[in-house]
Amino acid sequence: MLLQIPQIFSPDEVGEIRAALEAADWEDGRVTAGHRAVGVKKNLQLPETDPATRALGDRILDRLARTPLFIAAALPQKVYPPRFNRYEGGGTYGNHVDNAIFPIPGTPLKLRTDLSTTIFFSDPDDYEGGELVIEDTFGEQRIKLSAGDMILYPSSSVHRVNPVTRGTRFASFFFTQSMIRDDQQRRILFELDCAIQALTADHAGHDALDNLSNVYHNLLRQWAET
Ligand code: NI
Repeated sequence: MLLQIPQIFSPDEVGEIRAALEAADWEDGRVTAGHRAVGVKKNLQLPETDPATRALGDRILDRLARTPLFIAAALPQKVYPPRFNRYEGGGTYGNHVDNAIFPIPGTPLKLRTDLSTTIFFSDPDDYEGGELVIEDTFGEQRIKLSAGDMILYPSSSVHRVNPVTRGTRFASFFFTQSMIRDDQQRRILFELDCAIQALTADHAGHDALDNLSNVYHNLLRQWAET
């Protein structure tokens, strides 16, 4: 399932974040590329240890925790600390898959990548190219969102970022391990949750809502790993 979540950050917040990104010290993105990805990756990344990475990453994690749509869709168990990238002057990241498992820095824990996320911090008019292209079961999806918007997609998809031939594209990316490993099961729960929310808004007093809510929680109980 691909899901867009608009305006995770307001235009004012995007302005602050982009100013911090513009002032930061960037490094070659190949330092974190996997064996096969290194040949196709040409971008800049903020080092994991950079104070800006930590500060802005925490700001994103804090916002995710207060974004009901993200929680309902991802059913997050662990979120990998957000990283930041910058594409300009032909910068690109050719077709690749994200690693299945990442050690979480500074901890003995590992994270399984179920969902990948990109948050756009540049407006589509600020740059040429730079589409995130995801090979989905429904075909190729080309994603280029407004600054402050976010896209969630299965980490199992082959994807790429097209070359940025004018301007600069700033973005954040991160990975989520979901309580629900299977994309289809997660989708069923999300659709059920959305239907329950919609019914609650229109018919809050209907007794069947208790039964539907019970079904939701029982499916979650059957499928979740915590
Ligand atoms: Ni990727």
